[in-house]
Amino acid sequence: MGGLIGRAILGLQQIMTPLEQQTQEQAVGRPEQQDQTTGGEQILGVRRPDNQDQTTGKLDDMTLHSISAQIHAGEWRKLATRLGFSPAEISHFEANHSTDVVGQILDMLVSWRNKQADNVDQREALSKALREVRNTHLADELSEHCSSDVPSQDAVKHCAKEMKWFYSKRGGFVKMKPWLRDKKHIAVMYTKLKLLTGEEFTERELESYEDILLLQTREGDPIPIAVLSGLAGSGKTTLFDKIAYDWAVGSGQVLQKYKLVFLLKMFALEQGSDLTDAVFDQLLAEDTKMEQNALWSYIKTNPHQVLLLLDGFDELMTTSLDKSSFGSILKILNGKLCRGCTVLVSTRPSHFHRLVTEELVEEPFAHVRVMGFSGENIREYVKKFYSDKPDKAEGLIERIKTSNLLSTLAASPMLLLLMCLLWSDDSTLPETNVAPVPQSI
Ligand SMILES: Nc1ncnc2c1ncn2[C@@H]1O[C@H](COP(=O)(O)OP(=O)(O)OP(=O)(O)O)[C@@H](O)[C@H]1O
Ligand SMILES: [Mg+2]
Repeated sequence: MGGLIGRAILGLQQIMTPLEQQTQEQAVGRPEQQDQTTGGEQILGVRRPDNQDQTTGKLDDMTLHSISAQIHAGEWRKLATRLGFSPAEISHFEANHSTDVVGQILDMLVSWRNKQADNVDQREALSKALREVRNTHLADELSEHCSSDVPSQDAVKHCAKEMKWFYSKRGGFVKMKPWLRDKKHIAVMYTKLKLLTGEEFTERELESYEDILLLQTREGDPIPIAVLSGLAGSGKTTLFDKIAYDWAVGSGQVLQKYKLVFLLKMFALEQGSDLTDAVFDQLLAEDTKMEQNALWSYIKTNPHQVLLLLDGFDELMTTSLDKSSFGSILKILNGKLCRGCTVLVSTRPSHFHRLVTEELVEEPFAHVRVMGFSGENIREYVKKFYSDKPDKAEGLIERIKTSNLLSTLAASPMLLLLMCLLWSDDSTLPETNVAPVPQSI
């Protein structure tokens, strides 16, 4: 929020060089004069576009200048074509401002705006065109201002703040004894998991979980849904907790494009569950000041800014699915609602086929397999577990290396945790009766 408006103001106050000012005056006439008496908020002596402009979706010269300055020189012709200009008209804009790309873009945008009928929501229309030429960042920023619904803008800020508190304070821990409430901070214990995507011959390992959010179809479109499958204890829940934690503390560049990240436990959901009900139940305080309708209105208007993490489809309360009874959560999953929202859903392999059906997740979706720890990750995890006892850590790593079976079992984070706990007592593990083999650990 405020990015475009702020930059628009700066665009006139500070950014514009004298040449650019000249360009803008040529193209659109003088920017609106400072008006001390009527409409619009006065900031730094420049008239900020007033609410009227925001609610009707009209774009003023300042905003168009700011947008022009943010469009890459190599992409504006595509945008111009998308906005309906012919090659001859595009050449004309270029000729009018031969060395000034911002001027060319501004001239084009102003001329587009001046042609729009009164009933056109210009912000919405330009945002759509920007999205189609894949400038999603600018499109998102612009569409955020499309929302005439001021309460929903406030709601999203409030909701994000509450959830960030929840993910970083409550969710920022990893269970260290499954049967006790013993926990360590996720920032200390989290160890990278091995994630594979693609089919048999195209399978590849992802560098990091952020790559899941960057997967594309063959045509280069973003894939909005990823199914993460993994055995019990392979780290699916911990991975989702880490994603939510990273978003909350502002780390992870790709993650930060989402204004809202909802991490929902599916064991508390049924097929008819509603998204905002679940957010209120699972993530927000009972006495929250949040307005549920305002939140839903924001999500529907800005699905591109929402990341939904659905953890444990295999644990969903409903066993027999019926499409006509789906609530908004499963409707988002099957693409009937909030298209453009990014959804990651985790499941044990036993429920993968139930999830990937015509009723629920359909192509295009990405399948990511959560494989647990690689040999290197096993070493890293054991060293973190025994951070204050390096000898104990080395002893366990050596012990695991002596057995093929132990090495295989240690790939499961849950089983490796159990090995660490057993080793704590008397530095022994149960005999495996399997001959030692060379390991990659
Ligand atoms: N990446 C990780 N780094 C550190 N510890 C981890 C990691 N992943 C999992 N663990 C440990 O393993 C335990 C089990 O993992 P988790 O609950 O995430 O598995 P899961 O795949 O969700 O299993 P389930 O299918 O039963 O839901 C966690 O409580 C945690 O202690
Ligand atoms: Mg789990």
